[in-house]
Amino acid sequence: MCGIICYVGKEDVVPILLNGLQMLEYRGYDSAGIAVRTTNENNCNEITLLKKKGRLSELSSQKEITEIKGTMGIAHTRWATHGEPNDVNAHPHADCTNKIAIIHNGIIENYSALKKILEEEGHTFCSQTDSEVLAHLVEKFYTGDLKEAVKKTLNLVEGTFGLAAICADNDEIIIARRGSPIVIGLGKDFTIAASDATALLNHTRRVIYLQDDELAILKEGSCTIEDFAGEKKDNNIEEIKWSVEQVEKKGYKHFMLKEIMEQPLAIENCLRGRIKNGKIKLTLNLDLKSIKKITIVACGTSWHSGLIGKYIIEAMTKIPVEVDYASEFRYRDPLVNEDNLIIAISQSGETADTLAALREAKKKGAKTLGIINVVGSTIAREVDSGIYLHAGPEIGVASTKAFTTQLTALLLFSLYVKQELGEELDDELVETLLELPSSIKTVLDCRDAVKEIAKHFIASKNFLFLGRDVNFPVALEGALKLKEISYIHAEGYPAAEMKHGPIALIDSEMPVLFIATKCLLSDKILSNIQEVKARGGKTIAIINEEDNEIERFIDYKIIVPHTLKELSPIINVIPLQFLAYFVADLKGLDVDKPRNLAKSVTVE
Ligand code: G6P
Repeated sequence: MCGIICYVGKEDVVPILLNGLQMLEYRGYDSAGIAVRTTNENNCNEITLLKKKGRLSELSSQKEITEIKGTMGIAHTRWATHGEPNDVNAHPHADCTNKIAIIHNGIIENYSALKKILEEEGHTFCSQTDSEVLAHLVEKFYTGDLKEAVKKTLNLVEGTFGLAAICADNDEIIIARRGSPIVIGLGKDFTIAASDATALLNHTRRVIYLQDDELAILKEGSCTIEDFAGEKKDNNIEEIKWSVEQVEKKGYKHFMLKEIMEQPLAIENCLRGRIKNGKIKLTLNLDLKSIKKITIVACGTSWHSGLIGKYIIEAMTKIPVEVDYASEFRYRDPLVNEDNLIIAISQSGETADTLAALREAKKKGAKTLGIINVVGSTIAREVDSGIYLHAGPEIGVASTKAFTTQLTALLLFSLYVKQELGEELDDELVETLLELPSSIKTVLDCRDAVKEIAKHFIASKNFLFLGRDVNFPVALEGALKLKEISYIHAEGYPAAEMKHGPIALIDSEMPVLFIATKCLLSDKILSNIQEVKARGGKTIAIINEEDNEIERFIDYKIIVPHTLKELSPIINVIPLQFLAYFVADLKGLDVDKPRNLAKSVTVE
């Protein structure tokens, strides 16, 4: 949430910052800005600042931006928390002397108290943001040493931050982190840092992940890291494996469509090397025999995969599983102890609530496992053990390939636990899992059919998604996808619950989508479809083959290949991803950057 990028080197910094912001725009896109250390006609260094409300294109199309020349600067793309999105509230924020500029990702919880003190001391504030206090505090403490001023500032603030500060008098950028990710990229004669490694890929693959309560001094071609007490830290340099190509659109209109289409490959990569001769190969540093209960914590789409995980893990391992919204778990003094395993599921590995839930569980002695996509992310680093998704970068705000790879990873995990507990694995399930990438290729063929169906629903105001058993959370996910990007109000329900409320809403204006693929409860779902039809509702059904009985009662059908129950959510969610995508695109909406949402929510 919010993207930050900074660069110090020999190159013209503005194009580098704008390019970085473009890669980070999915993290926030209500305003953007840059601050560059420039030299004026009197040969004095100063800070030149330009910021604009709206998408990055608003900023990059400003005439003045071409006139800003310098080789050191910081830039930010914002997702508002305090203060409405406008030019003034956009970052960077400067101090009263205009010598210091900061960008900030996170929330300063005690900003009002700090602002009051600073105002009493004569500082004048321009914005309504919490972040501006940081610029004034750095100004207050600055006596020639920027790092010391930042340190003193951070001693006073409560909350979370990924922070970068520059000063007209210094040729260094100071960055610091508590709770909001920052990755530093190292080059021969430059140093660059960003809130996400994807923004560094055009420049370098050698990176250092800054840890919480660390700050770094970035200079042309060098980086020194220390903790807030001043103790030097080693530079743990890692190599990024993702290619630039992987984070580009490759000819697709949107990242979301590209990421839906990439699912066969993403799942293949998730499975790679993890099944050999019918055995599951995972390296989990966990004493599985001692686990009495599993609790899954996650948010959004990842929470939905957790719900499906519960059905699958319980059925396969007989270990009881609870699934909690991370934001609820963290504050309800959960009943967790050393005999419990906490599974944190997160695409980004940075979601603030999931991270806090994980830390809460660790405090109570639980064992922890992460199911994470972003390698080196905070959650990935803090868990005892982990399964990476290997889905590649997911840029579209609406999660797609992360969801299906999370389900794949949960299946691998369940099979692995069963195997390690000495139980025989179901060979058919293992074989079918290996064939999943090619089954998904077949499902993707429904793309055009779903697009045709979507045309009938662009004016809808409401939508109901119904499914049962492992496909009930798929209904929740279908509803979430639609509301996230098409702004149509949508609800997901277990089909049998329809009669306890939602049925009152059914009329000719209420489309109802049924996940009606073959399962033990197919007959019951058919009855629900009839109930909707009898009340004039518009019905869409995902089915496995031509089925005369169901087709009598439905207006639109989507046919997907039949598979085993455990794998059916992975297959069935794909038409729902397409449906949400095409409805939103046909409505002319910004699919990859839906209003008010952010890809990675690093604030509470
Ligand atoms: C945000 C995103 C969702 C995502 C959720 C959890 O709300 O918009 O797409 O599912 O965060 O993110 P995580 O990275 O923890 O999976």
